[in-house]
Amino acid sequence: MDEKMQGKICLVTGATSGVGKATARALAQMGATVVGVGRDQTRCTETAEEIQQVSGNPKIEFLLADLSDQVKVRQLVDVFKSRYARLDVLINNAGAFFLRRKVSAQGIEMTWALNHLSYFLLTNLLLDQILDSAPARIVNVASGVHYRGKIHFDELNLSRGYNGWKAYSQSKLANILFTYELVRRIPDPSIAINTLTPGMIATRIGQNTGPIVKQLVRLVQSTSGKTPEDGAESIIYLASADEAGEFRGKFFREVQAVRSSETSYDENISRMLWEVSERMTGLS
Ligand SMILES: NC(=O)c1ccc[n+]([C@@H]2O[C@H](COP(=O)([O-])OP(=O)(O)OC[C@H]3O[C@@H](n4cnc5c(N)ncnc54)[C@H](OP(=O)(O)O)[C@@H]3O)[C@@H](O)[C@H]2O)c1
Repeated sequence: MDEKMQGKICLVTGATSGVGKATARALAQMGATVVGVGRDQTRCTETAEEIQQVSGNPKIEFLLADLSDQVKVRQLVDVFKSRYARLDVLINNAGAFFLRRKVSAQGIEMTWALNHLSYFLLTNLLLDQILDSAPARIVNVASGVHYRGKIHFDELNLSRGYNGWKAYSQSKLANILFTYELVRRIPDPSIAINTLTPGMIATRIGQNTGPIVKQLVRLVQSTSGKTPEDGAESIIYLASADEAGEFRGKFFREVQAVRSSETSYDENISRMLWEVSERMTGLS
């Protein structure tokens, strides 16, 4: 076992599948204490056992939470803080695509609740602990789909004319705007805060896109030939590479910093997004 992350505590959401699972496994192989978050007890138990076996690292635990539900996010943070005195790396990764409109326990459109508000709420509730653990890192998993995204401030809930791609690209743009605004609000250079796209990867996320798009996604994913391990590379790099501890406000693709969309750099939009997210999560 590579001991590079020995002594580090890493919280990884969506660690039961896809790029989150590949990330959790790699961090475990580097000796980290990995706390995965999942919503299904059986998948959590099986994944923890698998990662322990593959990595030879027993310090793997899963906490259960449906991250689309703000009550569950708050409970998750309470449990995490009661068990762990520090948090060195937070990886916001759990996400999904919803072909048909659904709402969360709080009545919020599901893509927004899960893909954006869970990142926002979880990070803010853990921020005191992250700051106390400096140097520390926050890694937000976004997507290349954000280039086509727009934040629909007039109707964030998308209750009229819902379209899964509109909801998904909006949420993934929000991941990047949130990352850049967080950098502005946390001037401490010892907190590395970055975002990335894993690229088109064959995971379970493409399974819920409807029959035609599902075929298309499968085709693109199979021609890209990329595995969840490939998709996890930028996450693992931002979470563990020595030099990445100094990066702030960067967007990565294939382990390279690249420019995100023009909109993502708009400070007014970022600020507005922050304020509305505070209201939607009861933080203000
Ligand atoms: N795959 C791609 O081509 C691609 C491209 C760009 C960006 N991304 C981003 O990469 C991230 C990971 O996606 P993936 O491709 O690895 O997908 P995935 O295989 O479907 O994994 C998603 C993870 O999120 C968890 N999750 C979903 N809903 C949840 C909820 N309500 N509460 C708690 N956890 C929940 C899933 O848990 P369960 O095991 O219980 O379902 C799973 O662990 C997402 O943020 C996605 O937007 C993926």
